[in-house]
Amino acid sequence: MLRDTFQRPVRDLRISVTDRCNFRCTYCMPHDEYEWIDKREILTYEEIARLARLFIELGVDRIRLTGGEPLVRKDLENLVSKLAGLPGLTELCLTTNGALLAEKAAALKAAGLRRINISIDTLDPEKFRKITQRGDLAKVLEGFFTAKACGFDPIKINMVVERGVNDDDIFEMLEFSRRHGCAIRFIEYMDVGNSNNWQSEKMVPKKEILEKIAARYPLREVGRTGGSAPAVDYELLDGAGDIGVIASVTEPFCSSCTRARLTADGKLVTCLFSEVGHSLKALLRNGANDEEILEAIRAVWGNRRDRYSDERLEAMNSARGYQARERRKIEMITLGG
Ligand code: GTP
Ligand code: 5AD
Ligand code: SF4
Ligand code: SF4
Repeated sequence: MLRDTFQRPVRDLRISVTDRCNFRCTYCMPHDEYEWIDKREILTYEEIARLARLFIELGVDRIRLTGGEPLVRKDLENLVSKLAGLPGLTELCLTTNGALLAEKAAALKAAGLRRINISIDTLDPEKFRKITQRGDLAKVLEGFFTAKACGFDPIKINMVVERGVNDDDIFEMLEFSRRHGCAIRFIEYMDVGNSNNWQSEKMVPKKEILEKIAARYPLREVGRTGGSAPAVDYELLDGAGDIGVIASVTEPFCSSCTRARLTADGKLVTCLFSEVGHSLKALLRNGANDEEILEAIRAVWGNRRDRYSDERLEAMNSARGYQARERRKIEMITLGG
């Protein structure tokens, strides 16, 4: 089995299908314009499906589609049906902002998509607009309810908690998830990309989030799905509530990180905080055979030594401290989280 320098296998492939997004969340993609990937450089669905098949040969069994916002790419259901037909996949999921979900959920379900995570950071429409800069909460909620009616289960809500912005919305979000029988994950604000002006004071640590919730709802730790998921899950002892906390800053999980990322223009990226990717597109478009592509992936993963969040925590705990802007990272919109 393919393993990296720390013996971590490759199990998950996060495929970004576009770097465009119809939102401009302040914590992810605050500017209007970026250096967008040229349309000709974007992998076709055939190219993506071929790479997915090869990653599955190397050990991947879970695929997640991301963006930017994946649903702004035309006919995404066509890619879903190609991937759903690949033998060896146990999970095929989507992470979306939900804005186009009302129109797309039924087609995605019919094409074989199994699971959806939706980002919702507040239920206050004004605040929602402020955070996303372009988003309409009503449209996203319509997307959520449509996905639910189509039978997606579980649906997970992702809430990035930012101090002074939406940390006072934790309970309302939790109540919403309880009422509608979906899971909710509270996410520590991370220093992704180069433009979100991250400051550690704006990050609400997992400990604080849990203490707040436990004061009202006693809870019990369940653990990480499969031992390697970013979220540590908890159940509320009153039986209604399924929550997770993704604490990439204060409790990093690099030692069990089995996630590879593929950018929309075909670069293999081995960490969310990488500075560079490794182009597979050149091979795809220059007529390489499967074995040559497999060899290229093996070489990159075999050399992988990423543990960015572990290193961040070590730096934060050191006398020198941590400087978020020391390296030029790949933008979050290119990696989809
Ligand atoms: P599930 O399979 O439903 O557990 O999905 P997921 O949590 O792996 O994926 P999702 O796209 O919903 O991501 C939720 C949050 O976790 C986002 O903020 C991601 O950026 C973050 N995340 C996912 N994978 C990693 C990772 O490998 N490292 C770090 N630091 N954060 C990650
Ligand atoms: N910190 C934590 N999570 C983030 N996401 C986007 N930017 C950040 C950030 N700075 C999350 C989104 C989405 C997922 C793909 O990544 O909320 O749910
Ligand atoms: Fe927001 Fe997701 Fe778009 Fe980033 S990719 S701006 S988190 S909707
Ligand atoms: Fe994996 Fe990098 Fe996230 Fe660590 S920081 S868990 S190595 S993607």
